[in-house]
Amino acid sequence: MTRYAIDPVTRVGGHLRIEVEVDGGAVRDAWSSGTVFRGLELILKGRDPRDAWLFAQRVCGTCTGAHALASVRAVEDALGVMIPRNARLLRNLLYGAIVARDHVFTFYQQSAFDWIDPLAALEADPEATARLARSISDWPSSNAAHFRDVQARLAAHVASGRLGPLANGYWGHPAYVMAPEADLMVMAHYFEALDWQRRANRYVTLLGGKDPHPQTLIVGGMVLPPPWGGPVKPPIGEHPNLPERESPTALSPEGLAELETLIGELQAFVDRVYVPDALAIAQYHEDWLGLGAGLGNYLSAGEFPEGDTAESLRLLAPGRIMGGDLERLEPIDPAAMAETVAHAWYTDQRGDDALVPPAEGETTQRYSGPPVPFDTLEGADHYSWIKAPRYAEVPMEVGPLARILVSYVAGSRLVRTAVNDYVGRLQLGVEALSGTTGRMVARAIEAQLVVDRLDRWLAELRETLASGDVAVADITAWDPGVWPAEVSGWSLGEAPRGTVGHWLTIENQLLGAYQIIDATTWNGSPRDTRNWRGPLEEALVGTPVVDPARPLEILRTVHSFAPCTACAAHLAGPEVPAPIQVHVHTGAGR
Ligand code: NI
Repeated sequence: MTRYAIDPVTRVGGHLRIEVEVDGGAVRDAWSSGTVFRGLELILKGRDPRDAWLFAQRVCGTCTGAHALASVRAVEDALGVMIPRNARLLRNLLYGAIVARDHVFTFYQQSAFDWIDPLAALEADPEATARLARSISDWPSSNAAHFRDVQARLAAHVASGRLGPLANGYWGHPAYVMAPEADLMVMAHYFEALDWQRRANRYVTLLGGKDPHPQTLIVGGMVLPPPWGGPVKPPIGEHPNLPERESPTALSPEGLAELETLIGELQAFVDRVYVPDALAIAQYHEDWLGLGAGLGNYLSAGEFPEGDTAESLRLLAPGRIMGGDLERLEPIDPAAMAETVAHAWYTDQRGDDALVPPAEGETTQRYSGPPVPFDTLEGADHYSWIKAPRYAEVPMEVGPLARILVSYVAGSRLVRTAVNDYVGRLQLGVEALSGTTGRMVARAIEAQLVVDRLDRWLAELRETLASGDVAVADITAWDPGVWPAEVSGWSLGEAPRGTVGHWLTIENQLLGAYQIIDATTWNGSPRDTRNWRGPLEEALVGTPVVDPARPLEILRTVHSFAPCTACAAHLAGPEVPAPIQVHVHTGAGR
């Protein structure tokens, strides 16, 4: 049995180290280590709770909106605030696009190179590539001239010798089994996805005022100028190279019309490029069915409220699936969530083995470092800056796959149709989604579900505004004089990568305790009190590894979770040791 480390794993958010033991050509055991200390909870302590979300969303440069929402909702919960209908719709409209954009980025920029070999794309026949692309989608740019252009652009890039994101890839690896034409097709879409993200960024900026960290939330709703605000012309004068600097306000007729146009663009790419590509890659790798399945325990808190009460239905259902039983949906009780520091670089006054509810959690670092001499973390009892959250003491997978399966079991017609369409092509049941390629498919299905819903939320918003109801916030709770001396709040929601919870207390008008459990805290967690592996660790067991010096297969499963350790770990200060600097094997750069 030989132990290998991949550090840092690239094409992820934050700093992640993966160690595996390989024997007989497959992973036998795995360790996931978040190698940066977050400590955001400590930054929040003592601040005005109305500002919390602005800080909390800086936990990350990717999962921004998710933490902004979770934070503002937790403060609203503490202060008993109900947001108006327009605010709910605006939050869905803003956050829906953030989720879809993140999924497209995860697929093309962070995961595609695990499945396609960009250098092999240089060998592709552009005519055959166009035929292949037209066989899976009617996307207008699927013609030989376009693919020839992309190939020439790629060849010039490679010839320049400055490979950038193509440096250090495992190109030529035997696990790359797709035809060069498929490589070229996805590579072309890799570039188109970047252009598409510019349009998504404009949409998010219209509604959020800024990107990637939106600025238009407020405790009680949203802050956007009312519909009669008209176009805002920034005082920059005429500038021929900056046409988009002159923007309408989101709720003006011009703004709403532009949002509608942008929604059409978001949908077109997701429906006609992203989804067909994800399904094609998954279908092509049928030998991966069942690989990377992991625990079979799935958790979704539900997201995108479709009504204005706490009990309202959500586009993505809440619930739990245990032990892979796709017939049975269990409810969620936030009181069953607790974290242990048994194998993390923290202490807890209740002891290493205690399972501590997040509302009572603390962030006290205890960096014990790697063993010396160091090339693996073998023998280290504590090996991560990520705590281990558990539900009723059991590790849970969260993320698009969990949400899609939970909504499927909950009977969502939209989800059932999309999932059955995919698994029907494979002549398999819904269980075919469990695993590495299933996470890729579930992410694409979810992106489509959400962008296709944006129209409806926009139509509802227009109706409400047209009826004369233009309220976007309820600020009755803005007077700290009316707050109780001590009150607590929490919220659970769904970040692109999975369930996110914020727990806080407000004491004498200021934030007291604050704890975050992020999606990658769940998925990327280390072992727990009972030495049970975290979801990502568990999913890696059984992954085939043809060549341990080039662990492409491991990256496939790691990237299927879209890990974001920036969010997951509890900002480094001068007193915190630097992240581990040993690079044993490094994947392709971002
Ligand atoms: Ni993140």
